[in-house]
Amino acid sequence: MRVTVFGIGYVGLVQAAVLAEVGHDVVCVDVDQQKVDNLKNGIIPIYEPGLESLVKENYETSRLHFTTNAEEGVAHGKLQFIAVGTPPDEDGSADLKYVLAVAETIATHMNDDKIIVNKSTVPVGTGDKVKAKVTEVLAARNADHTFHVCSNPEFLKEGAAVNDCMKPDRIVIGTDSDEVKDVMHELYAPFNRNHDRIIFMDMRSAELTKYAANCMLATKISFINEMAMLAERLGADIEHVRQGIGSDPRIGYDFIYPGCGYGGSCFPKDVQALKRTAEEIDFEPLILRAVENRNAEQKQVLFNKISAHYKGDLAGKTFAIWGLSFKPNTDDMRDAPSRVLMEALWQAGAKVQAYDPEAMEEAQRIYGVRDDIQLCGTRQSALKGADALVICTEWKQFWAPDFDIMTELLNEPVIFDGRNLFEPSLLKKKGFYYVGIGR
Ligand SMILES: NC(=O)c1ccc[n+]([C@@H]2O[C@H](COP(=O)([O-])OP(=O)(O)OC[C@H]3O[C@@H](n4cnc5c(N)ncnc54)[C@H](O)[C@@H]3O)[C@@H](O)[C@H]2O)c1
Repeated sequence: MRVTVFGIGYVGLVQAAVLAEVGHDVVCVDVDQQKVDNLKNGIIPIYEPGLESLVKENYETSRLHFTTNAEEGVAHGKLQFIAVGTPPDEDGSADLKYVLAVAETIATHMNDDKIIVNKSTVPVGTGDKVKAKVTEVLAARNADHTFHVCSNPEFLKEGAAVNDCMKPDRIVIGTDSDEVKDVMHELYAPFNRNHDRIIFMDMRSAELTKYAANCMLATKISFINEMAMLAERLGADIEHVRQGIGSDPRIGYDFIYPGCGYGGSCFPKDVQALKRTAEEIDFEPLILRAVENRNAEQKQVLFNKISAHYKGDLAGKTFAIWGLSFKPNTDDMRDAPSRVLMEALWQAGAKVQAYDPEAMEEAQRIYGVRDDIQLCGTRQSALKGADALVICTEWKQFWAPDFDIMTELLNEPVIFDGRNLFEPSLLKKKGFYYVGIGR
């Protein structure tokens, strides 16, 4: 099938590559000329396991194309995917300007019937706004083309995006059109062979499903973090508690790891946007507000522990930081807890020596060159001469370090662990002052 995808970000690029991989003919359109040029030269803008080879292979076999020419893109596909960003507006609601700009572009150039598929995470009612925008532009053009708008929210996880798109848990499609249902069934047939993963519903329910999913996951994280803070104050160990509750299948082990807060491009903005949606209709989002407040507190926890240990005297100290991305297997640092920590350390006059397996370029892009951050090529070089190590992201390569070498490299054997990677009793035996979360 001929498919056009607007927006070559985490969602658009992965989805486009996966659709091309199963045989569809996909054109990707982006406004970022540099990104498009890079992709044509085999330079992939993001780090995602398995993505580079998938993109290159499908580009070489001409099933995947990249362009900034919107007219060409609109002409290509019967299906027009919208996968552009929906960042928070000033008041916290999702900013729809990119989504509506794509709707306008499609309406401006379409010369035959289209199905517009919205993959961006958008507030309930956005599908209707897209419909209204396309209708308005077509009317102004005096053009009489049939079109449908459907919602097809994306549930991929950064760090496992290719696998999630290849083997989705579910494919949610919001539409009331039988034609759209048939076309979407055909499009996703290669992903449905094992069992039908498609869940059809109305458009508003599909839009809300995406927010409900992310807010539920954020709620689990904030809940366990609140339990961790209680555990610390009550002399309990949250890691025992986690296992004790995770073993209940009604609760499960996923998403109940205590830590230094959730970040990324989705949870913070989606909790905020759904909260805003609720407020707009005069509904008190009690749980969402609590989830957000707990997370804001949690992102301060590492700094507070560090500051307490040094009695507030952080000026002139140097901290090694392991992990800058908001989670492992991605280079994404949007809303990452590491940023809150580093900025607080700088504010207190401390310096940072940071290492991340994939996010070093991103850190350089965000912070540029400054005296108080040194980006180090290896995890060991980040430790050299530092007063303590702080762990912000649980990359696999941090889980079993050589503690003897660490003792030699650090000025003092001190670790603040925002991800509870190590066993406190073992670290104590090895002579470390070790602080985790909720233990
Ligand atoms: N990143 C995730 O893990 C994830 C997961 C599920 C859903 N989502 C949602 O998917 C959407 C996209 O997220 P993302 O992380 O892929 O965003 P992103 O910022 O990585 O990419 C968005 C892309 O859209 C392009 N763009 C902007 N305006 C455009 C236009 N008019 N025409 C063509 N391209 C345009 C930008 O240049 C950029 O390349 C958001 O709504 C997000 O909430 C993201």
